[in-house]
Amino acid sequence: MALIELDQVTKLYRSGDSEFAALRAVDLRIERGEFVAITGSSGSGKSTMMNILGCLDTPSSGRYRLDDRDVANLSRVELAEVRNRTIGFVFQSFNLLPRTSAAENVELPLIYARVPPAERRRRSLEALERVGLAQRSRHQPSQLSGGQQQRVAIARALVTQPPLILADEPTGNLDSATSLDIMGLLSQLRGTGITVVFVTHEPDIAAFASRKLTMRDGAIVTDQAQDSAAAIAAAAGAHAATRAATPRIGGAR
Ligand SMILES: Nc1ncnc2c1ncn2[C@@H]1O[C@H](COP(=O)(O)OP(=O)(O)O)[C@@H](O)[C@H]1O
Ligand SMILES: [Mg+2]
Repeated sequence: MALIELDQVTKLYRSGDSEFAALRAVDLRIERGEFVAITGSSGSGKSTMMNILGCLDTPSSGRYRLDDRDVANLSRVELAEVRNRTIGFVFQSFNLLPRTSAAENVELPLIYARVPPAERRRRSLEALERVGLAQRSRHQPSQLSGGQQQRVAIARALVTQPPLILADEPTGNLDSATSLDIMGLLSQLRGTGITVVFVTHEPDIAAFASRKLTMRDGAIVTDQAQDSAAAIAAAAGAHAATRAATPRIGGAR
């Protein structure tokens, strides 16, 4: 079964007596292990789509199956549980807790999942090591660069070992060299079975995906497979030029 299956998903926003369709009868299948970019101009429905995919919001009509479970009509409590178990989120603005160490930030989803403290600490340090930040585990967000903060956020997304990572404009607050570095890091997840879906409006960031969806007026208007090898190689080159060692987050491949 595909990891994600949307059938005729529509999302309506009502204001007063007018109604606006931010998603219009969207059909979409994403298989496990895919690396997908969603692009499209502002207002085309990308964030609405991510909110539905991320179980932060429910469709007005249509079906959504995630990881073999029907999630279109769950309660808020059930949705929160599905999110914690199934999805790691990466945001444009990192969304780390201030005055809280990197290790504690990464531990948060494990607290919600009721993992005992010693195991939380071990897994959090392991996740920070995977993103190349083992030496920064006691640093607070304000003591880290933007790129390092986004690495902490990626560690936080990975620490529960979810089948799906969702990232809405993950490089939107980063300079271009750091953006390539972060996309190179995410690309290392390929081949591990994890599925990554990210939103971007920048062509050089979308180039990292093996499949690119384009949205317009609440619909997917193009859906193309693409060869991302050149983008990944360029990011690896840029990374090697600025650092001695390339952190690996994918584990054994
Ligand atoms: N909560 C909301 N209430 C009313 N309209 C909304 C709401 N959220 C988004 N919209 C509208 O839905 C459309 C798609 O928005 P969005 O999904 O944020 O697009 P994108 O992320 O591609 O810029 C826009 O026209 C936006 O104004
Ligand atoms: Mg948006």
